[in-house]
Amino acid sequence: MIGVGSDHGGFELKNAICRHLEQRGLDYKDFGTYSNESCDYPDYGKAVAKAVAAGECDSGILVCGTGIGISIAANKVPGIRAALCGDCFSAEATRLHNDANILALGARVVGEGLALKIVDTFLDTPFSNDERHKRRIAKIEDR
Ligand code: RB5
Repeated sequence: MIGVGSDHGGFELKNAICRHLEQRGLDYKDFGTYSNESCDYPDYGKAVAKAVAAGECDSGILVCGTGIGISIAANKVPGIRAALCGDCFSAEATRLHNDANILALGARVVGEGLALKIVDTFLDTPFSNDERHKRRIAKIEDR
């Protein structure tokens, strides 16, 4: 199950991502927002992040205008590694190296075509399982 969420700035791209996931036959849960009305990105970023951290969702996709605010909010939830990506190289690398469990996108930064390629790259790339990357991820979780 993929958790998907956005604020108003990411609303249209989130809907396009949901349609894309449907076309791929992937299960997702849309945590909102459900209209273009102005709202607060931390509400949606944290809702998806908490669902991923709790194991209710395997991964998440978050969208706001820049992708910055919503990724910062998601990363406040323990166990979440949200990666803001504007290119496919970063999306692949953050899965291989960081085992990122949430992808964040900026709807005012990337076009829909690129965003969907980034989504596919993120979802289709497994974690490398490499010991040095595991060690570094464990250090992220150190408090
Ligand atoms: C909303 O106008 C905008 O601030 C938000 O979508 C996001 O870009 C924040 O980081």
